[in-house]
Amino acid sequence: MSTPLLTIRGLQAYYGTTHALKDIDLDIEAGGMFAILGPSGSGKSTLLRVIAGFEQAAEGTLELDGKDLLALPANKREVGLMFQSYALFPHMSVAKNIAYGLEAEKLSRGEIKTRVAEAIDMIGLGHLADRRPAQLSGGQRQRVALARSIVKRPKLLLLDEPLSALDRQLRVGMQSELKRLQRETGMTFVIVTHDQEEAMSLADSVALLRDGQIEQLGTPAELYEQPNSRFCAEFIGSSTIVEGKVVPEGVQLTGFGALPLSVPADSQTGDTVLAVIRPEQVRLTEDAGAGGSQLFGTFEGASYLGGAADAEVRVADAVLTVRCAAMPRVAHGVKVGLTLDTADIRVIAA
Ligand SMILES: Nc1ncnc2c1ncn2[C@@H]1O[C@H](COP(=O)(O)OP(=O)(O)O)[C@@H](O)[C@H]1O
Ligand SMILES: [Mg+2]
Repeated sequence: MSTPLLTIRGLQAYYGTTHALKDIDLDIEAGGMFAILGPSGSGKSTLLRVIAGFEQAAEGTLELDGKDLLALPANKREVGLMFQSYALFPHMSVAKNIAYGLEAEKLSRGEIKTRVAEAIDMIGLGHLADRRPAQLSGGQRQRVALARSIVKRPKLLLLDEPLSALDRQLRVGMQSELKRLQRETGMTFVIVTHDQEEAMSLADSVALLRDGQIEQLGTPAELYEQPNSRFCAEFIGSSTIVEGKVVPEGVQLTGFGALPLSVPADSQTGDTVLAVIRPEQVRLTEDAGAGGSQLFGTFEGASYLGGAADAEVRVADAVLTVRCAAMPRVAHGVKVGLTLDTADIRVIAA
């Protein structure tokens, strides 16, 4: 594997007595999109601010491209930081706003002009270069803010919840735009979000933060398919978590009987475990008498998702969400059959 662009080891940060970052180790590879995901207050912004040089590290090391970042002031780090509340200068045109950051860098006029034109083209606002921010839509202003960060060509661009101020439809459009910009510039983007769908759809790798610590690190698929904890299983995607006991033939789930599930390597017969059952790992048979079903449950309703539906089916104390191709035609309280994709269901230690 190549040397990572950014290497963080043993990072600790405090605000007074609040221990905001606890022993963070992280490698970020060059040229991709990395997401830092976690609930509010988990330390996401603090991590970005320490990397950018706006917040102190109490302990640990940070290396960017082999250079010790902690020895450098913020403006020498070659790290860009874009906030959610990006402030564009209201009295300046789009082009001037984008050029602003370059003017402090002692580049020639020609170089600034070329780079600004390139950045404006890249965000598709060439025809609006002379407009003021007030004459732009929210999404357009967002793109100007992005161009302003990209034009400085930082080695690492940090984006702190850049899309959370936009409404849903704009946000989805901007997600593709971000991906495209990352690909076209080849720059390394680190995006902070509390929205798991956004992290999953954008990033090559995701670090899930919880209370100042990295709870789990992996690709979106790894986090979804192989969560290591209840926290990760619940934070990413939807699931029903059912408690059970390890038995020789797999896992005895309360109310489900013994199922041939793979158990964690270090678990022993009798241990309490949790099965993380995803909606697409369960199939529903409306006619419970049809045979072939693994177990039975009581139909409690369904919600239409557009092109699919999620049914709620009670099995003992658990209510399973079941992804169906169409809205089931079953009355509330009716007995239905269920079949589980036992090979795919993740079992974690309780
Ligand atoms: N300037 C500050 N002063 C004191 N405590 C802070 C400050 N900024 C953040 N914190 C605390 O540090 C923790 C992490 O905050 P933050 O990094 O902003 O989380 P996130 O971005 O994930 O919401 C929280 O407990 C928060 O209350
Ligand atoms: Mg934050």
